[in-house]
Amino acid sequence: MAVERTLSIIKPDAVEQNNIGNILAMIQGAGLKILGMRMLHLTRAQAQGFYEVHKERPFFGELVEFMTRGPVVVSALEGEDAVARYRALMGATNPDDADEGTIRKAYGTDVGENACHGSDSIENGQIEVAYFFPEYLLK
Ligand code: CMP
Repeated sequence: MAVERTLSIIKPDAVEQNNIGNILAMIQGAGLKILGMRMLHLTRAQAQGFYEVHKERPFFGELVEFMTRGPVVVSALEGEDAVARYRALMGATNPDDADEGTIRKAYGTDVGENACHGSDSIENGQIEVAYFFPEYLLK
């Protein structure tokens, strides 16, 4: 199995609710390595650029508002099969559909305020890691 890198964002709802440590413990408990990490307050331009693929969706405005509401914690994760493993750990996008033991089941509220983001493919893992951590791009 290949070593991959994926981007995690602990979203404003989870930061507001003091769940940074709980979510990082789940990430580390799952054996994913945190290569780099930063807490930052996304600008509108950063959030719009990051979610560019969703710009035609009806929820895009709401998504950008939410992601710029307060600070987030972005981290570059590494491990074998890291993209799929982190997605499994996060659970379904809508916390109501997420399995027990997942981050979104434990800390998400609804489909918008769902505690965390993770890259959805190996290719997007590369693109998203580079968005915040150009120094951690796998060559
Ligand atoms: P994320 O993994 O960050 O990728 C895109 C995000 O859009 C997704 O998680 C959700 O939080 C958000 N999203 C998806 N569907 C909706 C929706 N119907 N309403 C609001 N936000 C949504």
